[in-house]
Amino acid sequence: MSNDLNTPICPEDGDRVPAHVAIIMDGNGRWAQKRGQIRLAGHRAGVRSVRRAIEFAGRHGIRQLTLFAFSSENWKRPETEVSGLMELFSWALSNETKHLADNNIRFRVVGDTSRFPENVQTAISEAERVTSGNTGLRLVIAANYGGRWDIARAVQLLLRRVQAGEISVADVDEDLVTASLAVAEDVDLLIRTGGERRISNFLLWQLAYSEIYISDVLWPDFDSSVFQAALDYYRGRERRFGRTSEQVQERML
Ligand code: IPE
Ligand code: IPE
Ligand code: MG
Repeated sequence: MSNDLNTPICPEDGDRVPAHVAIIMDGNGRWAQKRGQIRLAGHRAGVRSVRRAIEFAGRHGIRQLTLFAFSSENWKRPETEVSGLMELFSWALSNETKHLADNNIRFRVVGDTSRFPENVQTAISEAERVTSGNTGLRLVIAANYGGRWDIARAVQLLLRRVQAGEISVADVDEDLVTASLAVAEDVDLLIRTGGERRISNFLLWQLAYSEIYISDVLWPDFDSSVFQAALDYYRGRERRFGRTSEQVQERML
């Protein structure tokens, strides 16, 4: 496979830090409502948790952190909340780009950003450009992203390649589909804050064999202790990938 992140980390590999962690950052609205504040205040407070998550991931040798910031379905929210979120993205991008660049972080946005305001699209391109040569943590923000959108787009890309005669129908296998996705790396650990036990159209294909850690903590309260608890949970899992437990134990000897 083209991407080294898709090689599962085996139990014997050091202290089993997940290579790719994805987070559904949920609970901003409830956090604000509990305080009698507007939902946007929760999103603002959530930006601080994003910083904490990035810092933690970098410190613990996680290679890729994929954060769900805005789903394809979130456009259905009240206009004021959507436009407030767009302003917040723009603000956070202009404030954080230098920090990302200074910390060797490679930044990328996945999702259909064509619907975003021009200034947000420009800020995204600029942040991607200035961090493109960085070799440390890969930070991926999923914005106007949906797992179904990603798969449909991959199908389109592959069909175009077939049409152009570059590949044949028989060439389309799992590796080629994976490589055609906006996020081409399998997720080792999925964290969802806010307590809901659902995927909400996040990375559907890439979550095939992820370990899943759900925390009741609301995203603005997310800190290193929650992240550490998720890593501890991950470390205790036996990743079998379809094999029996005995087979997995044998492979470790
Ligand atoms: C997640 O928090 C952030 C986004 C979806 C943008 P929510 O806004 O969904 O918070 P709750 O789930 O309503 O508490
Ligand atoms: C998922 O949260 C999307 C993000 C965190 C960006 P939602 O709050 O939109 O999910 P549902 O609607 O409760 O499933
Ligand atoms: Mg929510």
